Amino acid sequence: MPITFKELTHEYNAGTPFAYLALDAIDLSITEGAITAIIGETGSGKSTLVQHLNALLLPTKGSLTVLDRTITAAEKPKQLKELRKRVGLVFQFPEYQLFEETIAQDIAFGPKNFGMSEEEALCKAKEMLQVVGLSEDYLERSPFELSGGQKRRVAIAGILAMDPEVLVLDEPAAGLDPQGAKDMMKLFVRLNKEFHKTILLVTHDMEHVLNYCDHVVVVDNGHIVQTCDKLHFFRDTSLLHKLRINPPAIIRLRDELNQRGFELPCDILDTEVLAKAIADEVKHHE
Ligand SMILES: Nc1ncnc2c1ncn2[C@@H]1O[C@H](COP(=O)(O)OP(=O)(O)OP(=O)(O)O)[C@@H](O)[C@H]1O
Ligand SMILES: [Mg+2]
Repeated sequence: MPITFKELTHEYNAGTPFAYLALDAIDLSITEGAITAIIGETGSGKSTLVQHLNALLLPTKGSLTVLDRTITAAEKPKQLKELRKRVGLVFQFPEYQLFEETIAQDIAFGPKNFGMSEEEALCKAKEMLQVVGLSEDYLERSPFELSGGQKRRVAIAGILAMDPEVLVLDEPAAGLDPQGAKDMMKLFVRLNKEFHKTILLVTHDMEHVLNYCDHVVVVDNGHIVQTCDKLHFFRDTSLLHKLRINPPAIIRLRDELNQRGFELPCDILDTEVLAKAIADEVKHHE
């Protein structure tokens, strides 16, 4: 069952002089089992959008359906605990959420809160630390001794420990070094392919969208201006330019060459295929 938003509006500080319409009657459907990138300029409404998925923010108008729950503006939702276990939300800069004395306790916090025994939760913490690529030597250390990237891994392990079906990540790779960011993206691909998690990922990095995501949702000023698969999205980059988003390097190269008279197919998404298409055209004109 897809995740669907129906005419969902979110107004911050509704009914006050500080009211701000952050999402305006959004209709959106997100494919289950896929990795969907949520992109758009700063302040466009991406974080506001994704925080509705586990009812951290509630709609001012309209509704959304996620898994078997429908949340409407009309009714105050009950029993959100179950939904929050099934839809894991990793905030922008999750490292600020670490607070326990040891990493093991931090990761085990969520599962314990959802009814797991101390022993089971600590076992889960050990397992998840490994999934996010940290050795178990870290378990008894303080989360505050870690680097930013390591803290983020621990925060993600804490969400994974609850075994959510849907994983929502708000700029998970922002500020990491390039290799760290790549490893992080590969982890999400693995969680999607091996553990069948539906993944929604807010990002500003078009290389990540190109290399690791299946679908793209573009948010602009509280509206959804595009939802499509990645191939379709990078075929025509005019929307990206309009939104002042820099396309991935390979797409820029393809477009630059086509502007200079090449006729390279617009479904080229990787270097090898691009190199071959360029070589074929050059040979053709020799
Ligand atoms: N708690 C809040 N109170 C009032 N306005 C808010 C609040 N949070 C966000 N906004 C406003 O809503 C709009 C959308 O914010 P949001 O955080 O969803 O943007 P974003 O697309 O995630 O941006 P970024 O890429 O910078 O993270 C912005 O104009 C922002 O100023
Ligand atoms: Mg944001």
